[in-house]
Amino acid sequence: DHFDTVVRNGLIATACDTMAADIGIRDGRVVALGQGLARGRHEMDASGKLVLPGGVDAHCHLDQPMGEGLKMADDFLSGTRSAACGGTTTVIPFAAQIKGQSLRAAVEDYHRRAGEKALVDYAFHMIVTDPTEAVLKEELPALIAEGYTSFKIYMTYEDMKLDDRQILRLLAVARQHGALAMVHAENADCIAWLSEALEAAGHTAPKYHAESRPMVVEREATHRAIALSELVDVPILIVHVSGREAIDQIRWAHAHGLRIYAETCPQYLFLTASNLDEGYEGAKCVCSPPPRDKANQRIVWDGLSNGLFTIFSSDHAPFRFDDPQGKKPGGKEVAFPYIPNGIPGLETRLPLLFSEGVRTGRITLNQFVALTATNPAKLYGLNPRKGTIAIGSDADIAIWDPHKEVIIENHRLHHDVDYTPYEGMRVTGWPVTTLVRGERVWDDGQVCAPRGHGRFLPCGKPDMARPKVVDPAAGGHYVANLPDALGKLAQSNRA
Ligand code: URP
Ligand code: ZN
Ligand code: ZN
Ligand code: ZN
Repeated sequence: DHFDTVVRNGLIATACDTMAADIGIRDGRVVALGQGLARGRHEMDASGKLVLPGGVDAHCHLDQPMGEGLKMADDFLSGTRSAACGGTTTVIPFAAQIKGQSLRAAVEDYHRRAGEKALVDYAFHMIVTDPTEAVLKEELPALIAEGYTSFKIYMTYEDMKLDDRQILRLLAVARQHGALAMVHAENADCIAWLSEALEAAGHTAPKYHAESRPMVVEREATHRAIALSELVDVPILIVHVSGREAIDQIRWAHAHGLRIYAETCPQYLFLTASNLDEGYEGAKCVCSPPPRDKANQRIVWDGLSNGLFTIFSSDHAPFRFDDPQGKKPGGKEVAFPYIPNGIPGLETRLPLLFSEGVRTGRITLNQFVALTATNPAKLYGLNPRKGTIAIGSDADIAIWDPHKEVIIENHRLHHDVDYTPYEGMRVTGWPVTTLVRGERVWDDGQVCAPRGHGRFLPCGKPDMARPKVVDPAAGGHYVANLPDALGKLAQSNRA
């Protein structure tokens, strides 16, 4: 037969267009878009459904080594299972360098964790915590060339934070080799000073986590990161932006002609600092930056609607609540600075944004696709293979029932965390079928892909990370990427 699968009669939406069409799939790729396509060996009826590119969750933590008796609840199996059941077909978690470890060793260790487990496709960001001469001069350039084209820089957390000089050096490497730096912008010294004072006063409950990281701390670090990016002339992404103060800094940067990309996450739309109030249960919502208040939620929604944000990611950082390796380290209710940071959100990311964003008219369907699939694929050099429905793209497709009503309850989710911060929330719209390279991974309430179905994706050098001033002596590299991408697509069409 001509097609392996035809997805018929759905309403397709991409970042740009909405169209009623069938999708013809062969060898895991989209090979035809049109009306009345010939029969495929498999027929999928999408009448009354939305057919969207599978989500790309470009910020999630899976099976990241934690140290000190802590353990993430999700590995590549449970994490990608949860992703698929929520319409996400590509994840980009972090290979984190431990101080003293080579970056290469961190990446190799992470491949061992992912291999034979993932259900959906995956790429890696790196986390650089120890930018030695060897890392800066040899390891990072080599790894970027091999398809690890993004890395995260922390300005906070005692065991991960870098100083400005180290950040500048790393940004220079990003500029020279065409990688994208992601920045966790919170001022570590401010947080340490505030935490010390709070603890000394006996204020140790989870809710003081939010008081130890007020918005000014995020604003200052965001401002500084923007200045460092300007100095080096390389775009950066500010990850997990929580509210007004950081947004003001990013808007300032945009008004001054700087390409600063910004990411936000569900917790800044659906949670507030008051979720940390309920005694030790508040530990369930301890993440950094912390959720703010209702007024800030509205400002974050505005940023999604008006283009300030480029991407919407989960920042899934899974720790079980009632667990000595999770939110109760050693089995105890600990003071807030010792609660592992992070909340789960891989599976609920898309339905929450669809229900409260698209259905309410805060964002359009095409913006939804852009923020959750197309832009993250572009930002990390995976476009046009991932993040869109186009001839030659991988057939990574989520078929949504836009009317399906779901009450979010942890027992219905597919992660290995023992809670969801969104318990009891009602949403309308959920993916009923998820295809990864044309194969069903989630269908009609069942997980159907075998473990190991997911493949590793080497990332291209992201066009969006190009500097402002491109050295003509560098041979017009950034212009050449366009024919490159087209060439790759043409090649895949012939294959
Ligand atoms: O609290 C959070 N966000 N934990 C995950 C690690 C990070 O900083 O993204
Ligand atoms: Zn078949
Ligand atoms: Zn972070
Ligand atoms: Zn994170």
